Amino acid sequence: FAATYNTLSGQAPLVIAHRGASGYLPEHTLGAYELAIRMGADVVEPDLQTTRDGVLVAMHDSTLTRTTNVEDLFAPRNGGYRVSDFTLAEIKTLTVEPTRTASTSYPGYTPSMSDPFTVPTFAEVMEFVNAHNTTSGAKIGIYPEAKTPNSFAMNAQILEEMQSHGFTDRSDNSFIQTFSHEGARQLSLMQDILGMDNAIAALGYAQLTPEGYALYDSTTRTSNLLSDLALFVDGLGVSLGGALSAEFIAEAHALGLQVHGWTFRPTTAEAAEEQFLPWLEAGMDGFFTDYSLLAVEFLEAH
Ligand code: G3P
Ligand code: CA
Repeated sequence: FAATYNTLSGQAPLVIAHRGASGYLPEHTLGAYELAIRMGADVVEPDLQTTRDGVLVAMHDSTLTRTTNVEDLFAPRNGGYRVSDFTLAEIKTLTVEPTRTASTSYPGYTPSMSDPFTVPTFAEVMEFVNAHNTTSGAKIGIYPEAKTPNSFAMNAQILEEMQSHGFTDRSDNSFIQTFSHEGARQLSLMQDILGMDNAIAALGYAQLTPEGYALYDSTTRTSNLLSDLALFVDGLGVSLGGALSAEFIAEAHALGLQVHGWTFRPTTAEAAEEQFLPWLEAGMDGFFTDYSLLAVEFLEAH
C-alpha cells in the first residue's frame, strides 16, 4: 500500500462490498458476504427491508421478484410480492438467484454455511461478520442502508440491532446510510431519544445523494446545503454518475465529511485502474463495489 492517501483519515480507502460480492455471487446472501470478506473487503453492505412480521432482512428491492424464486412458490398478495406482505418463515423458503453478472459459484470458493443463497436477516449478517472477526481478529464493518419506507421505527430497529451486535463505532468501519434527509436527521438524534449516547456516539451516518444532485457543484448548490448536512451526518455516499469532482471531495473533507462513492463495477483489472485511480487520487474515502477483489487488488498495486 502507498505510504499516504488523500483520504480524510490518511488511510487507504475502504473497500465496501456492495450487496456483498454481488458481481460474483447472488447479492445480499451470506455466500456473497463471505466471499467479499475472503476477497479482502473492509465493509459489507446490506440494504434492508422489513418482513410482514417485523424482521429486518438483507434485500435491496421492496419486492421479492427480481432476486428470488418467490413466483414459483407463492401466489401474489395484495397484487404483488412485497417483502412486507411475507413472513420471515415464508421468505426463508426462497432461493436467491443470480442477478446482473453473478453466478451461483465462484472458482475456489466453498461456502462455510449450508444455505449460502437464502435471504439472511440483518441479525444473521451481523452474526456472520462477528463470528469472522472473532475468529480472525479482523474488524470487518457493517454498512446497512435503510430502504423505504424509511420510518422512525425502522431506523430505531436498525440502531438497536447494531448496538446489540456490537457495531457501535465508526472506527470499526460501521456506518448507516439512507437516501432520506429526514431519516438521516432521525438517526443522528435517535441516540439521545433511545438513551444510547455512549454506545453509538462515534457511529457514522452517511447521507446518500441522488445522482445529478446539485450538491456536487458549489456554483449551483442552493444555500449552504453541504455545511448543513455536515451538522448531522459524518459522511456522504455519492453517486459517481453526477458531476462529482475532486474539488467536491476536498470541500467535504474540509467539513469533516468522508466521501464514499457508488457504485464501482469494473470487470477487469484494466477497467479497475481506469475507474478507481482518479478517485483514489482525489481522496475518496470508500469505494462501494460489486467487485471486491478487483478493488483490493487495485489498492494493493497503489
Ligand atoms: O448504498 C449505495 C448504493 O448502494 C445506493 O444504491 O440502489 O444499490 O442501494 P443502491
Ligand atoms: Ca445500497
